[in-house]
Amino acid sequence: MIKKHPPYPNLGYGLGLRSEYYDTILEKSPEVDWFEVITENYMVDGGKPLHYLDKIRERYPVVMHGVSLSIGSTDSINLEYLKNLKQLADRIQPVWISDHLCWTIHNGHNAHDLLPLPYNKATINHLAERIDQVQNYLGRQILMENVSSYVTYTDSEMSEWEFYSNIVEKADCLMLLDINNIYVSAINHNFDPHEYLDNVPSNRVQQIHLAGHTNYGNFIIDTHDQPIVDSVWELYQYSLQRLGSVTTMIERDDNFPPFHELMAELEQARKIGNEWQDKKTCTV
Ligand SMILES: [Fe+2]
Repeated sequence: MIKKHPPYPNLGYGLGLRSEYYDTILEKSPEVDWFEVITENYMVDGGKPLHYLDKIRERYPVVMHGVSLSIGSTDSINLEYLKNLKQLADRIQPVWISDHLCWTIHNGHNAHDLLPLPYNKATINHLAERIDQVQNYLGRQILMENVSSYVTYTDSEMSEWEFYSNIVEKADCLMLLDINNIYVSAINHNFDPHEYLDNVPSNRVQQIHLAGHTNYGNFIIDTHDQPIVDSVWELYQYSLQRLGSVTTMIERDDNFPPFHELMAELEQARKIGNEWQDKKTCTV
């Protein structure tokens, strides 16, 4: 069990830090409240990425978002990875650290994909134990994000939101709720995304991701290379009715638009969030 820290602050409205925008950010100092960095891109000894990160960190709060913790694996937690993660955190002092509720590595081989887990009690116990190990090592609460999925397991015994909620309560960690991922999985697996949002523990939701996807008609791929669709904006608005305003980030990872287009999406999120400032309707 980690020592309880004061709750993390609401950071406002942020963007993913991507190399395509390094120079724009440094030249224009845009009105972005904070940036999220992909942890693994900066686990290096030097060079251009760290140079830019150090400069941007001087001006903005930063959070670290990882893709290789592989918290759901049956391989042991990679202690070398944890050591490098902590070293980077010591360097850039992120407000918080997050990763995904998934597995990516088996027998030492990295699939480089965020693969879903069977939703059952054995998996909850397995993950809670491993999250506890990571939190103890880092000396802080971490955030776990729901992933998009395209397959389900016959071993699942509960809904995704029950699974996710049970893990964060048992592990005493926080939620990074990706509204687009909920929408993608809801279409792919035919569940109601509102029911998901109605049932997550609101006091655990520390951050929200918004992103675009590619719709192929009868299924959706979580590509992060398109603008956010209206249905996801509506779900964002719906979620804030219950949660109040939450630290929110626009997640764009490919087909990068001019920076002002991302700023327009960020302002749209800010406008919706401001409507729900201090209007939380549920504390559980
Ligand atoms: Fe996300």
